[in-house]
Amino acid sequence: MSWIAVILGMLIFWAGALFLPGRAAWPGGGAPQKEGGESGEVSGEALVKERCAMCHPLGRVRSAQHTLRGWQATIEKMKLFGLQATDAEATSIVKYLTTAYPALGEEVSKTRLYIPNEHDNTLSVINTGTHAVLRTLPGIPRPHALCRSPDGRFVYVSNHTEAGGVQVIDTVSDGVVARIQTAGYPMHCAFSVEGRYIFVASHGANAVQIIDGIVREVIATIPVGQAPHNLVVSSDDRSLWVSNIGSGDLSVIDRTTLKVRGTIPVGKAPLGLAMSPDGARVYSANTGSGDVSVIDAAALKVIATVPIGRGVNQVKVGPDGGSLWIAVGGEGVVAVMDTSSYQARARIRVGQGPHGIAFTPDGKHAYVTNSDSDDVSVIDVAALKVIETIHVGKAPACL
Ligand code: HEC
Repeated sequence: MSWIAVILGMLIFWAGALFLPGRAAWPGGGAPQKEGGESGEVSGEALVKERCAMCHPLGRVRSAQHTLRGWQATIEKMKLFGLQATDAEATSIVKYLTTAYPALGEEVSKTRLYIPNEHDNTLSVINTGTHAVLRTLPGIPRPHALCRSPDGRFVYVSNHTEAGGVQVIDTVSDGVVARIQTAGYPMHCAFSVEGRYIFVASHGANAVQIIDGIVREVIATIPVGQAPHNLVVSSDDRSLWVSNIGSGDLSVIDRTTLKVRGTIPVGKAPLGLAMSPDGARVYSANTGSGDVSVIDAAALKVIATVPIGRGVNQVKVGPDGGSLWIAVGGEGVVAVMDTSSYQARARIRVGQGPHGIAFTPDGKHAYVTNSDSDDVSVIDVAALKVIETIHVGKAPACL
């Protein structure tokens, strides 16, 4: 589909070049205006009026509101369609669009947390300011896990079904804006650091699939271990780590070669995966052996195995960077481990079957999904105490 759009864009562009008498004839065209005072730099506004109107009405541009990254991605996409702009011109276009059409809605959507309710095919949208359920989005087949674009705008949710697929939710409108076909039973997803690519652990294909977020299609499939589940991207964007539940190991993919450059045996059925902020350590929560493997990311070696409890699920590094938060599914607690001493700092009682963990951007609260009691526990991170329980849909899963 998107290739049809590309060809269409090119045709419109060439038709424009052939049949129209020249730029001076464009409404509002003529000589591009100069920005007052700046030495010869063409203003972003003039460039937008001149170039963007070549293929579609300017209303199309005005109706879009993006962050800096969002506008950068849009301009890259338009270049693919045939937009002619030098790097300097693209920079001033982006600068203008970011101020003229900023992503107003994103400030609102940043305070929203999305909960996949695996057993009733919905997502609960929670306002993290009030801890209230804002709305419930229907029509999401078996949502197990989701990931959010670095600019916060889009949530990708995998449909853990035989038909597979990943749905894209625009957090400004809270609507599904696209569906991308994948292999069957996609599990977790993760964004590349710059936000263009989305990696999906494909349980059905024993592979990681890469989605190009601009064209919204799978562009590569990389075979990994058995039943891959969770994945993390290193902060330097150079490697991708995947936990393979079936083969009890982690695959490390090189982002440049797109090949597995290491396989690290860990405990039984590794499910949760997290990386320290400096990228030096990777933590794997092994649900079968009830422990956490600590891996030296450079040496690709397990350096410690810490017993935690029955049915460990997702793990996240705490907002302080020095703690690991582990949902212990079989014991109804969240364990907080000190990452230098491996000692327990706390065991916080939550609901039944705790599964996923997410922190608010300000680091003040942790949200824990309880798959067996259909609710979410809100933890005060400083006090290490549950302060609220929010009822959501059936079997809330990974965050
Ligand atoms: C050579 C043709 C061409 C030029 C030049 C062009 N576009 Fe587009 N644009 C397209 C096509 C084709 C689509 C529809 C495809 C789509 O919606 O994905 C589109 C869609 C869009 C959309 C809606 C989709 C989205 O990603 O949000 C926006 C916004 C947009 N263009 C902005 C711009 C801006 C800003 C410029 C100028 C800097 C520009 N376009 C120049 C061809 C062009």
